[in-house]
Amino acid sequence: MSSKRTAAFPAEDATVSEGVIVPETAGRHRPATAASPGEPLLVVEDLRVQFTRGGRKINAVNGLSYELAPGSMLAIIGESGSGKSVSSRALMGLLPPTAKISGSVRFDGRDLLGLSEREMQSLRGGDIAMVFQDPARSLNPTMKIGAQITEAVRLHSDLDKKGAQARAVELLKLVRLPAAERRFHEYPHQLSGGMRQRVMIAIALAGEPRLLIADEATTALDVTTQAQIMELLVELQQRLGMAVIMISHDLGLAASYAQDVVVMYAGRAVEYAPTKVLFANVRMPYTHALLGAIPALDREPHSLFEVTPGQPPDLSALPKGCPFRPRCSNATDQCLEMPPFTEHDPEHWFACWHPVGSGTGKHTANGEQR
Ligand SMILES: Nc1ncnc2c1ncn2[C@@H]1O[C@H](COP(=O)(O)OP(=O)(O)OP(=O)(O)O)[C@@H](O)[C@H]1O
Ligand code: SF4
Ligand SMILES: [Mg+2]
Repeated sequence: MSSKRTAAFPAEDATVSEGVIVPETAGRHRPATAASPGEPLLVVEDLRVQFTRGGRKINAVNGLSYELAPGSMLAIIGESGSGKSVSSRALMGLLPPTAKISGSVRFDGRDLLGLSEREMQSLRGGDIAMVFQDPARSLNPTMKIGAQITEAVRLHSDLDKKGAQARAVELLKLVRLPAAERRFHEYPHQLSGGMRQRVMIAIALAGEPRLLIADEATTALDVTTQAQIMELLVELQQRLGMAVIMISHDLGLAASYAQDVVVMYAGRAVEYAPTKVLFANVRMPYTHALLGAIPALDREPHSLFEVTPGQPPDLSALPKGCPFRPRCSNATDQCLEMPPFTEHDPEHWFACWHPVGSGTGKHTANGEQR
């Protein structure tokens, strides 16, 4: 079991980074800790999750591997149903007992998949915490927010009620909730969506986590509030030395804030690299299609932007070979065989027989069919 840490939060006036949602800024928030060699905080290897529903086997995660350095931010990107949430719930021990999980998840050297439910419970909300998309549903509507945070603080510390209340106000200030002392006595419905998300982050921070998983934590918010919450997460990541896994549909958001990106398709990682490396040279046709779906700043107003054509595959009946094949304009017969997920260039992993820019595959560089 992990010991309770007592480290005080850093000063309020520590540096706050700005985030701009354009790929040119890729990876600029990488903290010194991520660059320094050393043991990763989290190592996920060949993670697989299978559900059985109505007699059909649903392969939700199909061999996912990645690493996360202490204090670093990793974005997991992919379309709806690609296995982003299931894979992170697997490492939090939050899947139903019917889920068949295999592979290895090592957090600070401990095998998470081998922990008992009791050990997992002490880790959740402590060393590892999660923030979800919908704070309205995650917060208790009948309890004042101060009481909810105080409860979380008491669960993860030896503080008495008064001490825990003081820490709860400190946490509300840390997440920059305006008028924290007053809001402490308010109910969730009295707060805006952005404020509620700040409260959820404060609750997640109550156990002083070393890893925070933010699953679509900003998706329900307007663009301005989304940027503010992302900047808050980056600030906390840097001030508290906390690692963050940011789960999103939005490749542009990943480009602006994360140091590393995993692109998932049909439960697999299909491209994985430091953000700067990935955006300098996107290789996987699926990532390329996602990139095409990001509205560019210089796009003509009201012009249509390219979206990834076709539907994500049925996870209970995956196509033979590369799962992106039915939607890929570069597919050939070779793609009937599964491409291996390999480190093709330094730090740049992808799974594709005919990567973008290779000059192989069905289409030439100028888009003509061979
Ligand atoms: N408890 C469950 N039983 C059966 N299938 C499940 C269960 N939970 C998730 N799935 C399936 O696993 C697949 C992956 O789901 P997951 O929630 O990880 O997708 P996601 O990438 O997070 O999508 P979104 O972006 O919509 O949140 C989906 O096909 C989903 O229907
Ligand atoms: S070229 Fe082939 S291997 Fe590469 S993404 Fe397309 S279908 Fe998959
Ligand atoms: Mg999800």
